[in-house]
Amino acid sequence: MTVEGIRVSSQWLALRDAADTAARARDLVEHVRRRLPARGRRVIHDLACGTGAMGRWLAPLLPGPQHWVVHDRDADLLRVAAADRPGPAADGASVVVETRLADITELRVDDLADAALITASALLDLMTGDELARLIDVCAGAGCPLLLTLSVVGRVDLTPADPLDSRVGAAFDAHQRRMTDGGRLLGPDAVAAAAEGFHRSGADVLVRPSPWRLGAADAGLTAAWFAGWVGAACEQEPGLVGDAAAYTRRRLAEARAGQLGVTVGHADLLVLPRRPESSKIPGSRPRVAQSEPPSSRSEPG
Ligand SMILES: C[S@@+](CC[C@H](N)C(=O)[O-])C[C@H]1O[C@@H](n2cnc3c(N)ncnc32)[C@H](O)[C@@H]1O
Repeated sequence: MTVEGIRVSSQWLALRDAADTAARARDLVEHVRRRLPARGRRVIHDLACGTGAMGRWLAPLLPGPQHWVVHDRDADLLRVAAADRPGPAADGASVVVETRLADITELRVDDLADAALITASALLDLMTGDELARLIDVCAGAGCPLLLTLSVVGRVDLTPADPLDSRVGAAFDAHQRRMTDGGRLLGPDAVAAAAEGFHRSGADVLVRPSPWRLGAADAGLTAAWFAGWVGAACEQEPGLVGDAAAYTRRRLAEARAGQLGVTVGHADLLVLPRRPESSKIPGSRPRVAQSEPPSSRSEPG
């Protein structure tokens, strides 16, 4: 296991939940629905599930009985996922949740053999290139679609602009790409690497922007995100610390007054293994849409 060992708090995941829900690319769900088995129980593996936000969002959008197997290495987060279950399926069918305390970098093909769908959210940018390559191999073995949402793409836009924004943003991105004992983290390069890797494995890949757009109503999340963003930037570039104190005071005052707008770029990927009889899905190219502001994450999620 080398995905960074930083623990993510359930409070942070709760704080970001509404912004995540608003950001996720809904049109990809329609593609998922079309690729689910026509009948029977659908087993859905959610990798690095945290408190289970993906299931609470997606299960009610999908039809039919669902068995969610939610994997995480954090037992506390899994306990929340077990208690805060998704509502019923879109057609009222039952949704069951099974938790697995597991390191997702050590999954084997057999662990996912029953999957009708594999999901993950806010995970890819925390991985190294080797971990991602292995995950691609294991998931390709399952031969089912994957929905991989909310990976950071390396762009943050703050309004109004401040001269320090770009320096902090660059240091934050460097922090996301830092070396760890297990290798260099992918950070903002994860989406392109995953799209390329899955495409090479024989799948069509759809990429959609899924940015957070934070405004006056999101002052709490904005302040927490901002503190983490600047903190990581200063850890990466200690020379920033002097300027960062006044910058942080200024920005947090703006956030409290509802005067700070923040766009944090993410992207969602849908991976569809090619079926021999199917023609290529229009628009499915291993390419990140650049029309949306990319970005970063303060906590690792
Ligand atoms: C940013 S959180 C995202 C949680 C959840 N997917 C969501 O979107 O709310 C990242 C999650 O990945 C989990 N995680 C990170 N590396 C992992 C690994 N190697 N094996 C299992 N879980 C891991 C963390 O415990 C955390 O719950």
